[in-house]
Amino acid sequence: MFTVKSQLSLDTVHEALVIGVFEKNQPLDGIAAEYDRRLGGQLSVLFKEGDISAKKKQISHVHTLNQAGAKRLYFVGLGKKDALTFEGLREAFGKLWKTLKQAKRTEAAVALDTFVTDDIDANEAAHALSEAYYLATYEFPGYKQKKNEPEKRIETITIYTEADAAEIEASLFVGSVYGKATNSARTLVNTPGNLMTAADLAGYAVELAKKYEFEYEILEKEEMERLGMGALLAVNQGSKKPPKMIVLKYQGREQWDNVIGLVGKGVTFDTGGYSLKSRESMVDMKTDMAGAAAVLGAMEIIGELRPEQNVIAVIPATDNMISGEAFKPDDVITSMSGKTIEVKNTDAEGRLILADAITYAKHHGANYLIDVATLTGGVIVALGVHTTGAMTNNEALFEQLLEASAETGEFIWRLPITEKDKERVRSSKIADLNNSPGREGHAIMGGAFLGEFAEDTPWVHLDIAGTSVAAKDYDLGPSGATGVMVRTLATFVERFE
Ligand code: BES
Ligand code: ZN
Ligand code: ZN
Repeated sequence: MFTVKSQLSLDTVHEALVIGVFEKNQPLDGIAAEYDRRLGGQLSVLFKEGDISAKKKQISHVHTLNQAGAKRLYFVGLGKKDALTFEGLREAFGKLWKTLKQAKRTEAAVALDTFVTDDIDANEAAHALSEAYYLATYEFPGYKQKKNEPEKRIETITIYTEADAAEIEASLFVGSVYGKATNSARTLVNTPGNLMTAADLAGYAVELAKKYEFEYEILEKEEMERLGMGALLAVNQGSKKPPKMIVLKYQGREQWDNVIGLVGKGVTFDTGGYSLKSRESMVDMKTDMAGAAAVLGAMEIIGELRPEQNVIAVIPATDNMISGEAFKPDDVITSMSGKTIEVKNTDAEGRLILADAITYAKHHGANYLIDVATLTGGVIVALGVHTTGAMTNNEALFEQLLEASAETGEFIWRLPITEKDKERVRSSKIADLNNSPGREGHAIMGGAFLGEFAEDTPWVHLDIAGTSVAAKDYDLGPSGATGVMVRTLATFVERFE
């Protein structure tokens, strides 16, 4: 896939040579200036006339008409050099790979050093380049009988740089691991509910565990009954398909201490139950296991890169269906923690299954908890579709997650949980908790409810209902599942201290 070389000359033969250009009075220097001279100053003219642009994320290309080794030059506009961020560079590369894919190029070379700034070194640029390659060119295979001709892909990419080749290769590898794992999560989420049941999700997790030698445990219904997981069982009650509690354990330290618990909502289809969703809002509810997918994607990265950390992934998996057996509004259920819950809304099912998963993660020794869930429509109203909602009981843990998200470009923003909010989730007259105390501050109610189960364990809740699916194509992927939080969770784990 990627080959790293150091000698780039005007006569090196490539289908396409990619050069980064920054906005300034005279944009052509280095290899671009050399090409300009070879092409009789034509590139400068094209820049002046605007046919080639250095504006941020503009991709322009010219044919060299056999005047040089590279058949075509692709210029990636990067804007002002001192304003380029890591995420900006990743998006620019995303746009480049999309353009090259569309143009059906199968081979390309990149002058990596033309993408380096004071803030972004060649290694970081290499990471951005390869991560963006996998993210931007991702496609869900789908199920059409008649596929169009298999899409041509760029299969050979030569990276030219003066930097240390072994280090650049390592950075390209890390970027590719991050990109591929995000794509794995996307595929899980894009898969329809009939083909991605709790058992399917568990099967996938077991494959992952075998590949990376994680310890694993799949709890069946009988064991859940024994353990008293009344919340997960209640949500599953209306389903013909058995629930699964999926546990993966990665031990990267001598002792099983400082354990990070990653908990992901795995509702494989959410009809809302008896608090039934409307026909419009039910569509796309196959994506209600995006939290589970984010955790599994992060575990893939952890399995590949093997950081010195201890991680336990816990995924409660079921669909939320109706039948004569299904749980109902007004039911009172007992969670594994012993806390009783009055169900006011069967569509607030995510917090129920996560309650037992959080308790179970703590039983397995989790000292820190991050849960990821498509929990509420309310978070979309509050923060839109580009920002994940975060809630926490621990500033320091939240700060670490925020830093990781700044690196990955997956924005998170904190919402408060006040004492008054806690009172509201404790407002049931007949049980300890109420799973839906009204629509006001909806996303916060979800967080406050989960906080009751995290208790004193440092915990961050991430509500990805808005960010897990994209309505339109974007620089780093197609419409559909985004794989949001895979990269942030993995970055958080790698850097955790
Ligand atoms: N899975 C939904 C949340 C959701 C909504 C995800 C839109 C993705 C897009 C969740 O289980 C749900 O139905 N939440 C309710 C909670 C309410 C009943 C307290 C909601 O958001 O309306
Ligand atoms: Zn629901
Ligand atoms: Zn749901």
